[in-house]
Amino acid sequence: MISVAIDGPVGSGKSTVARLVAKGLRYTYIDTGAMYRGIALKAKRAGVSWDDTEEMGRLAEGTEVELQPTTVEGLTCMVRVDGREVSREIRDTDIGQGASKIGTIPRVRRALVGMQRAMAAQGGVVMEGRDIGTVVLPDAELKIFLTGTVEERAKRRFLELQKKGKTPVMGKVIEEVKARDHQDSTRADSPLRKAAAAVEVDTTGMSIQQVVDAIVKLAREAMDK
Ligand code: DC
Repeated sequence: MISVAIDGPVGSGKSTVARLVAKGLRYTYIDTGAMYRGIALKAKRAGVSWDDTEEMGRLAEGTEVELQPTTVEGLTCMVRVDGREVSREIRDTDIGQGASKIGTIPRVRRALVGMQRAMAAQGGVVMEGRDIGTVVLPDAELKIFLTGTVEERAKRRFLELQKKGKTPVMGKVIEEVKARDHQDSTRADSPLRKAAAAVEVDTTGMSIQQVVDAIVKLAREAMDK
């Protein structure tokens, strides 16, 4: 069984696409962003500042994050932090920003990368995030880099928030997407970037199914190699 690494910026459709690719291949789907979000949520609840690099490092090292596939509407996976179910809470916008912030701390990354590699040790995974093809699974047999224009990605994020019953403002959503892009791609440790061997898929104007079909085809070709 091969490993499939999918990276890309916020709103590129990564989570939805990766989950459906995993389903198509009967592989395990691993959402690494959910792990950063779980750590950010735990810190917030414990009153630990996302800027406190030392405390955040300790907290990440001492946390157990479990991911489980789910068919629950609106969720890509079930997330447990130290045994406690937090699948919905971690999706809040401020927790996303916190995840992006603590993702700049090397010690936090080391702790999570260790867990992620252990999860993928047997192969048979579709793992998505920002540094999967470059750092977590540099030997993945298939690497995908999903992109899309800021406007298209903000539109997806806008619709997602509306679906959750929120009343987003488009201009603000665009600003948030840009801020997250900036933070994720300019950090010193494992910035978001396309791995050398990654296949770039621009999702602008493509349906989810078209993107999924293209990646499943590439995965089957990689399995035959
Ligand atoms: O994929 P997401 O939007 O749920 O991820 C939330 C944040 O977590 C993202 O903005 C940066 C961080 N992250 C990371 O640094 N490395 C990963 N592999 C996944 C997410």
